[in-house]
Amino acid sequence: MSPKSTGPGLTDFRLLLAPLRGVTVAVFRRNFVRFYGGFDAAVAPFVPTVSGDRVRPALLRDVADPAAEAPMELVPQLIGKDPAHVAPMAEALRALGYRRMNLNCGCPWKFVAKKGRGSGLLRDADALRRMLEAGCAAMPGGFSVKVRLGLDSADLLAERMDVFNEFPLVCVVVHPRTAKQMYEGEVDLDAFESLLPRFRAPVVYNGDIRTAADFRRLRSRFPGVAGWMIGRGAVADPALALRIRGKSVPNERETLRRFHDALYADYRAELFGPAPVLGRMKELWGYLHARFPDGRGILRRIQRSTSLAEFERHSAAAFERLASQNY
Ligand SMILES: Cc1cc2nc3c(=O)[nH]c(=O)nc-3n(C[C@H](O)[C@H](O)[C@H](O)COP(=O)(O)O)c2cc1C
Repeated sequence: MSPKSTGPGLTDFRLLLAPLRGVTVAVFRRNFVRFYGGFDAAVAPFVPTVSGDRVRPALLRDVADPAAEAPMELVPQLIGKDPAHVAPMAEALRALGYRRMNLNCGCPWKFVAKKGRGSGLLRDADALRRMLEAGCAAMPGGFSVKVRLGLDSADLLAERMDVFNEFPLVCVVVHPRTAKQMYEGEVDLDAFESLLPRFRAPVVYNGDIRTAADFRRLRSRFPGVAGWMIGRGAVADPALALRIRGKSVPNERETLRRFHDALYADYRAELFGPAPVLGRMKELWGYLHARFPDGRGILRRIQRSTSLAEFERHSAAAFERLASQNY
């Protein structure tokens, strides 16, 4: 994840698709590249590190094919706290062809953080140092981290700055919220601004980029940022990265519908039974609905659907309403 852009005709910033567990999974990413694109790389939702020398292939199913999303680079993400578990995972990833991996130091869920994983890694400087050391040794030249500002308050990342700066990280992705905030409330841009020049590694900003205007505003405030990671905004508006790059999306409604239908077809082919398919599609609509007229009503009906037939009826009606609005 170097700060340099790679694609032809692209501008001089990097765009990264954020990991959203249960949402930006392989089926989503593959279809995203097919219908939209615009991101240089994606960080995959986290995979837990495990004890032992062998990593079961099932654990890496979501990242089994590093080339499936080309030209968007895929970077697997680990979550864990035991440095001894990092090397076997890195080895399994290298065997698949990966040369990069990311460590989750930001997951805010209490049951994760309490055990010293995710954002909980920030609590203990020595534990953090050992994980960074293990990651850099296991994936030399290709190890990055994703962090938050802290757990209960916004000063812990600043305290750990020297630890991060001991290591040759490819980049540090900063989501400027505390774990306590989860994904709500304001991002703390002032705290981000004061941390930005202190990192030795290139910094990637992540949080609440929902429109091209949001991006432009943040970019002009933080010209020193090497890359921009977008999660929920890109699921709600899959054309967002293209908009940011000033590219047009021909026939937007039709493209969105084809993308949606391809996701649905692939989930049906890949998952067992209607319940997990419904689960995935409901989660997707949790973001997508905002672009639709009467989005909340659509979301309510879709979330109440108990069968695929019911879901199909409500989603088709939603796209018809979009057509009637000349979207
Ligand atoms: C449902 C959901 C799942 C997430 N899963 C992960 C994950 O697996 N790894 C990770 O580092 N962050 C994860 N995140 C955090 C996002 O990557 C991102 O940091 C956060 O959503 C803020 O960026 P955004 O405002 O652009 O969405 C998740 C967030 C949500 C809402």
